[in-house]
Amino acid sequence: MSNAEHHEGTRRDFLYYATAGAGAVATGAAVWPLVNQMNPSADVLALSSIRVDVSGVSEGSQITVKWLGKPVFIRRRTEAEIAEARSVDISDLPDPIARNANIDGQAEATDENRALDDTGEWLVQMGVCTHLGCVPLGNAGDYTVDGGVGGWFCPCHGSHYDTSGRIRRGPAPENLPVPPAEFVDETTILLG
Ligand code: FES
Repeated sequence: MSNAEHHEGTRRDFLYYATAGAGAVATGAAVWPLVNQMNPSADVLALSSIRVDVSGVSEGSQITVKWLGKPVFIRRRTEAEIAEARSVDISDLPDPIARNANIDGQAEATDENRALDDTGEWLVQMGVCTHLGCVPLGNAGDYTVDGGVGGWFCPCHGSHYDTSGRIRRGPAPENLPVPPAEFVDETTILLG
């Protein structure tokens, strides 16, 4: 390999050598740092939990926090939002799976299986559209209640999520996922 080739991007080297069979052996040491970067080790992941103070979140509003580089919506729902979410027939849902990391992966997408607490007051979910990854807007779309409360709308290609964050209309294939989350005291949610 000439010097000029050596100075080209590591990404290209990686792609080349990853498929080059025996050729990869000679350059193994140079390739490893990139591979390690792409696979965060277990201890890095273990540190990736954050505590969120939700004492200032009033009913009918939400905050967005950043966790593992992505937005997470933490919403304190009104009774109307909860009632609407709980009145939906599962057979009307394009994605019938809860997508909740805190429970069985195949559980039904009832609102009870997505909300953080039994009353359903708190809903925590990733703020990333399951179509192509835009950040949906809150209090928007075709599934709000009381003339514009709750629900989410992704303006990128028109996906509508209901007051439980479940996809109802548009190209997004899945409900907004619920990340690992729990209350560790009355006003603090631990994410991750
Ligand atoms: S990214 Fe949300 S609808 Fe396409």
